[in-house]
Amino acid sequence: MGITIIYGSDGGTTQGVAKRIASQLQARVVDIKAATTDDLEGCDLLILGAPTYGLGDLQYDWDSKLKLLGAAKLTGKKVALFGTGDQTNYPDSFVDAMGILYDQVVAQGATVVGFTPTHGYDYTHSLAERDGQFVGLALDEDNQPSLTGKRIAAWVDHLK
Ligand SMILES: Cc1cc2nc3c(=O)[nH]c(=O)nc-3n(C[C@H](O)[C@H](O)[C@H](O)COP(=O)(O)O)c2cc1C
Repeated sequence: MGITIIYGSDGGTTQGVAKRIASQLQARVVDIKAATTDDLEGCDLLILGAPTYGLGDLQYDWDSKLKLLGAAKLTGKKVALFGTGDQTNYPDSFVDAMGILYDQVVAQGATVVGFTPTHGYDYTHSLAERDGQFVGLALDEDNQPSLTGKRIAAWVDHLK
């Protein structure tokens, strides 16, 4: 059944990251705008990616598809998460959307894999930080674009 990556993106950054991850994992890539229940359920590993907007809000398309996500059967399913954000301008809500998606899929019984260390980032608060780790891959293309490649590679290695 393979790996499916579902992302939302206003400005294209998260879409670009989704494609980079997909090429390393031979994964399918689907925009949440067009995603179906089959996309969410019909894979061995489901990867969800979202940027944060507002002050700690889920990106618009994800927000409008929360019902679809909430109705998907994810009990026991392996889910990995990635988030894009801006730790310099939004240090109190850095990659919060990843934390919102985490709470949602955990409530649905998913097993979240791919936690990452928080060192190398400079922020004050993140909903995506739990017990000293990020619940997925946190990327900051606004301030640390040169670190993205290395961070993706390490995360993909860990997922494999
Ligand atoms: C109006 C606005 C609000 C934002 N709010 C946050 C935020 O609360 N936390 C954060 O980490 N990043 C925030 N960001 C940064 C975006 O999440 C970041 O630029 C992301 O890479 C955009 O992804 P996209 O191009 O896929 O839409 C915000 C950006 C904008 C323009």
